[in-house]
Amino acid sequence: KIKIVTIGGGSSYTPELIEGFIKRKEELPIGEIWLVDIEEGKEKLEIVGNLAKRMVKAAGLDWEVHLTLDRRAALKDADFVSTQFRVGLLDARIKDERIPLSHGVIGQETNGAGGMFKAFRTVPVILEIVEDMKELCPDAWLVNFTNPSGMVTEAVMRYGKWDKVVGLCNVPIMCRKIAAGALQEKEEDLFFRFGGLNHFHWHRVWNHEGVEKTGEVLESVYTKPDGLKNAMQGLKSSGVQNIPNIAFLADQIRDLGIIPCMYHRYYYITDDMLKEELEAFAKGETRAELVKKTEAELFELYKDPDLNIKPVQLEKRGGAFYSDAACELIASIYNDKKTTMVVSTRNNGAISDLPDDVVVEVSSIITAGGPVPISWGSFDSSTRGLLQLMKDMELTTIKAAVTGDYGTAQQAFTLNPLVPSGKIAGTILDELLVAHKKHLPQF
Ligand code: NAD
Ligand code: G6P
Ligand code: MN
Ligand code: MN
Repeated sequence: KIKIVTIGGGSSYTPELIEGFIKRKEELPIGEIWLVDIEEGKEKLEIVGNLAKRMVKAAGLDWEVHLTLDRRAALKDADFVSTQFRVGLLDARIKDERIPLSHGVIGQETNGAGGMFKAFRTVPVILEIVEDMKELCPDAWLVNFTNPSGMVTEAVMRYGKWDKVVGLCNVPIMCRKIAAGALQEKEEDLFFRFGGLNHFHWHRVWNHEGVEKTGEVLESVYTKPDGLKNAMQGLKSSGVQNIPNIAFLADQIRDLGIIPCMYHRYYYITDDMLKEELEAFAKGETRAELVKKTEAELFELYKDPDLNIKPVQLEKRGGAFYSDAACELIASIYNDKKTTMVVSTRNNGAISDLPDDVVVEVSSIITAGGPVPISWGSFDSSTRGLLQLMKDMELTTIKAAVTGDYGTAQQAFTLNPLVPSGKIAGTILDELLVAHKKHLPQF
């Protein structure tokens, strides 16, 4: 019987995860699920944990669902450890987004200055978790969802010296659905290759006859303001709820020749994205603030003792299909399914423009021994430098997160294309350091 541990169990996403396990009950002989949280998340853990118990019971399953604040007790003899925690909870995210915006700079919780601070807060905790795992469940797989997912995964391998880790994101799943919608094909009839970094990847697509359809998807979805809406029957968001569907520049997209992910809007049309964010900032409606309201509504629903399924209202969060990534990955490793999934894993030559030992987000075959990346090859000059810069930004951010060195943090800010350099960078850095002081013991 499998023992699964989820750290950050009090997240409002937990019903999504439980639903994913229930869907896969035939292929996953689960014995125990342990939901772990901390004192600050105790109430949330209690509410969502009890919903998880009702969901399992309603599905007629005898899985034990444990709720605990004792991480070490939970980790003992675990087979899979999934992580979905947010150090400082949503109040910290509000600071991550609002402080950069107060200086007229993109406020993005995974890619901008705020995302770098999320890494600064998260890396020390994930490294502690890895140390516990070495002692308590040395054969377990770590399935990381905690953002910035690619950087956290890289930190686990590089500084935690723990190789049995896979980083996940739902964005590639949405990208596949969009391409299938645009081509009016079944997703399983298409073949995809993804390459890049978490929240910074591109993809190509081929049909059943082996004919590449990348250009067709680019043209129909990404060069017209309403392309996505038309392809996806009225889809208003970019595919994930947290990113508005603002049109890319058509000629640039045609020149690119490969399909960008939703997050590339921050880099390719920074001015439009910033304008949208500043409007939200002025109204007190940054994504973090909206999500805080949504979360409160969700937990009210979760309290209902008659509720025993994942409520549709969870679709307001950006993590739709989250469990298809997490639970399918676990099922694929456990059953050596050799399915193809997009994951953050060690490059090992898949992207020839990056070193072998860095973490990349690429299509991979998921075996019992973990992901085996599929070769992407090299990038064109239009993309290569930016990708290498972003990887170095990630590596420098992680280094700063581990050492707590102020100069290294300044260096990382300079490398990040979403953060301007100079005095303004210093001000943002200092304000974020003060705001998050409690969660940054290393600085
Ligand atoms: P949240 O604010 O609800 O935090 C989740 C839980 O983590 C909270 O209950 C909190 O108390 C707990 N927590 C904080 N510090 C902890 C610690 N040291 N140990 C154990 N638990 C701790 O977060 P959320 O908005 O539900 O998001 C959860 C996480 O999942 C975030 O890190 C988010 O970035 C990530 N996420 C990732 C993806 C992806 O594509 N990879 C998608 C959705 C969400
Ligand atoms: C997408 C991304 C996640 C991110 C989420 C934010 O799903 O892949 O990495 O955490 O959106 O959604 P939220 O509802 O929290 O804004
Ligand atoms: Mn993601
Ligand atoms: Mn910069």
